[in-house]
Amino acid sequence: MINIAILGFGVVGSGVAEVISKNSKELAARLDGEELNIKYILDKRTFPDHPLGSRVTDDIDKIINDEDVFLVIETMGGLHPAYDFSKKALLAGKSVITSNKEVVASCGAELLSIARSNNIGYLFEASVGGGIPIIRPMWQCLAANKIIRIAGILNGTCNYILTKMEKEKTDFETALKEAQELGYAERNPSADVEGMDTCRKISILTSLAFGKHVYPEKIQCEGITDITYDDILFARNRGYAIKLLGTSKMASDGKVYVLTAPFLVSEDNEIAGVNDVYNGISVEGNVVGDVLFCGRGAGSLPTASAVMADVLDVIRDCRKTIGWKNEEADFLGDISNNVTDFYIRTKADENKIKEVFGNVKVEKSGDNSVFFAGKTSQKEIEEKIAKLGFDTVKIRVLD
Ligand code: HSE
Repeated sequence: MINIAILGFGVVGSGVAEVISKNSKELAARLDGEELNIKYILDKRTFPDHPLGSRVTDDIDKIINDEDVFLVIETMGGLHPAYDFSKKALLAGKSVITSNKEVVASCGAELLSIARSNNIGYLFEASVGGGIPIIRPMWQCLAANKIIRIAGILNGTCNYILTKMEKEKTDFETALKEAQELGYAERNPSADVEGMDTCRKISILTSLAFGKHVYPEKIQCEGITDITYDDILFARNRGYAIKLLGTSKMASDGKVYVLTAPFLVSEDNEIAGVNDVYNGISVEGNVVGDVLFCGRGAGSLPTASAVMADVLDVIRDCRKTIGWKNEEADFLGDISNNVTDFYIRTKADENKIKEVFGNVKVEKSGDNSVFFAGKTSQKEIEEKIAKLGFDTVKIRVLD
């Protein structure tokens, strides 16, 4: 019997317990007949009616000091105390498996280094893309490649909201409420809709791809709160879907440009067809070309599926070297120099727009003017928008 502990019994933690019970035979078969036993669940709450209610404790030291606990699954969310408990467990020689993108994005290099020194695992497949295998495929299966570009729908909640707004003409608030009820959204959903969750995930993928820790604070971050149904309709009528993306691109100057923002994605791009809670991540390697990873990006069981893959991996082979270095990511470029086409929605009239932007094709959308600005750097577009002097929204077009 292999004893494990789950820290945090929310959406993901309870999903992990459900998978262990539901697939117990399959899991045991993959562990040469050994069974998994959830010896402890750490939570401040009590669960008197749950079959595992008697295993619940609020004392982390009881878990850390129990030599029979082989590994710890951290599904608490938030930076503290999840980071502190993970570090404690690793220092005590217990492997840690996490779904917590905030901890990995902010403290991954340190925790990975402790794990490496102790010859144990700190694994985080569930931290990006929910149930989609993405961390291990990038680390192992694409290891022969120089990564050129990553562009991904990395937040299930935002994709669910944008899909609902378009297909069912649901308003933003109703779609967000549904995403919360389905267990997709963060406890504080502003992390989803304002882009921080995507930012943390693209920081993890970029660190993994380029080998140095890219901190989320270094990444420009825009969310979807300014997007209206009219923007979605305008884009669709011209062959685009609007998606919140995390992007990371190696440019010809050798720098990597990382960004979280909504984009107009051409319908020719497979990512444009990735809807609802699904995430779609396109990774381009210099020898493999484009590879697309797609699946449920949030939710209890899909995320638990990824957590359990790491659990099996740790048990079958404890020595994991996955990760990156805690060095300054000197390969990052200044995103404000990055050039893309922009869709612009503004209250300014056609004359004023042409005065600032030249001969662009301006259309009306309600009481707004909308147009494509053409290939422009972010610095330049911001200067021009300031010259317009009206309420203006800009959305990039994905190359
Ligand atoms: N709130 C996150 C999302 C959960 O919607 O994608 C999965 O990381």
